Amino acid sequence: MIEVRNLWHVYEGKKEALKGVSLTFGNEIIALVGPNGSGKTTLAKHLNGLLKPTKGEVIVDGMDTRKHSVAELARIVGYVFQNPEHMFFEENVFKEVAFGPRNLGLSEREVEERVEWALRQVNLEAYEDRSPYSLSGGEKQRLAIACILAMKPKYIILDEPTTGLDEKNTERVKEVIRKLYKEGHGILLITHEMDLVLELAERVVLLYQGKKAFDGDVEEFFGLDLREHGLDLPRLLTISKEAGLGFVRSVEEFVNALGMRI
Ligand SMILES: Nc1ncnc2c1ncn2[C@@H]1O[C@H](COP(=O)(O)OP(=O)(O)OP(=O)(O)O)[C@@H](O)[C@H]1O
Ligand SMILES: [Mg+2]
Repeated sequence: MIEVRNLWHVYEGKKEALKGVSLTFGNEIIALVGPNGSGKTTLAKHLNGLLKPTKGEVIVDGMDTRKHSVAELARIVGYVFQNPEHMFFEENVFKEVAFGPRNLGLSEREVEERVEWALRQVNLEAYEDRSPYSLSGGEKQRLAIACILAMKPKYIILDEPTTGLDEKNTERVKEVIRKLYKEGHGILLITHEMDLVLELAERVVLLYQGKKAFDGDVEEFFGLDLREHGLDLPRLLTISKEAGLGFVRSVEEFVNALGMRI
């Protein structure tokens, strides 16, 4: 379990990015949403110790992040960065994904197995010899996910994993998220895409100006006045509400609800 207790973060220059956030999560898919600058990335970076609390505490499976190194915490909490292109430094995709597992001290064979498995999960198995910098935006995003998967962390944070991706790549990322969740990983999905929230999350946490403005069930979340927080309803929900069909989570559910009414 990850426990965030009364977390404050003040950046140098006195920017108060988080103001007393508390949150507990386990093996679930939580969507972390909120307008630009609301503190989502700042919160995420506390969960694997990249940032330390100015006040309050973050406890990861019983470990206080102030007392453990990022390397230790990264075995438990994987963080896929927003804008992952800044994160690559190896000459090819294989080495890039192998870096983490190698640092875990696994044998070369185990490392190889992990790399191949992780690349398969994101459909990049044919890219082993390519330079990470030669990949397209969507491929880089998937490579960043593979690098984290290869570490097999219990919790995985994805910071806007579908931004800039086309439909096909977005679908792939969704599939990976669903699969990881089924395998027992806890997922914290940071996103501006409400369609993704509707389809994937059971629970939603809304940050607003560094504070938690909502934490609860996805259906309840979409009952809020989202425009007040700079967010829009997903199109599917707008259509469904217009049609008087209420809350649905997928096109399939919408069609079923429509069929029942006809
Ligand atoms: N290194 C830093 N130094 C000073 N202020 C920072 C730093 N990083 C972030 N901030 C500020 O902290 C606030 C929260 O930023 P954060 O990146 O956590 O927001 P976010 O919710 O992830 O936004 P976005 O949706 O744009 O990714 C913003 O006002 C931002 O300008
Ligand atoms: Mg961010």
